[in-house]
Amino acid sequence: MIIAANLKTNLTREKTSKYIKEVESFLAKNNISQEVLVFPAISSLNLHVGALTVGTQNAYPAINGAFTGEIGYEQLEEFGIKTILIGHSERRHVIGETQEELIEKFNFYKELGFKILYCVGEPLEVREAGFDKMMEYISNQYEGIDTSYENLVIAYEPVWAIGTGLTPTLEDIVAIHKELKKISSAPLLYGGSVKVTNAEEVLALDGVDGVLVGSAALYAEHFCTMCEYAQNIDK
Ligand code: 13P
Repeated sequence: MIIAANLKTNLTREKTSKYIKEVESFLAKNNISQEVLVFPAISSLNLHVGALTVGTQNAYPAINGAFTGEIGYEQLEEFGIKTILIGHSERRHVIGETQEELIEKFNFYKELGFKILYCVGEPLEVREAGFDKMMEYISNQYEGIDTSYENLVIAYEPVWAIGTGLTPTLEDIVAIHKELKKISSAPLLYGGSVKVTNAEEVLALDGVDGVLVGSAALYAEHFCTMCEYAQNIDK
């Protein structure tokens, strides 16, 4: 299974380094063989060799150049980063990235062989419009994306469940994942208010290949517990 921590705009470089050391030590001590990904803030990226993989939350689709405020492949290469998060709800809805921009980013990093964690998910008003409308909305987020890319991982993250403490019912997660698996057979993670208290039951669901965790993952101890749950389930 894949257990991923999206640290968003949290933790300093020093705290991130401590965090990663703590997780690494837990993985080693507990013989965790699951795939563990950590996405720190960009200023906290660093060369890391170990059981877990460090990825970037974002990067511009360019090797380098005049893109003020962005980083490109050259800055990722310096730290051996080969994993990227694309299409996160906060990039789509807070930063305002369009599907066209996401496609460009996807294709650029695909060409470079990156592992791409591509996020999809509906806002509340779309969910309230009913299952068919919701699936149509989510399907559109796959538009222009190579769903058979070998290094693709998808994360289903309902926008209304992110950082709110709300989650879909377990039955809903199973039903939506079943539909999404028809679009792509890539590993499919669930994200949105995953906590130590619900991670075990979410990880055990049919069609769930892992979790993408935000706020609860800020506590290394909680994130480690989720890695342990995944290890015990070991689908
Ligand atoms: P929360 O776990 O804080 O809801 O965030 C989920 C998320 O956005 C992970 O990418």
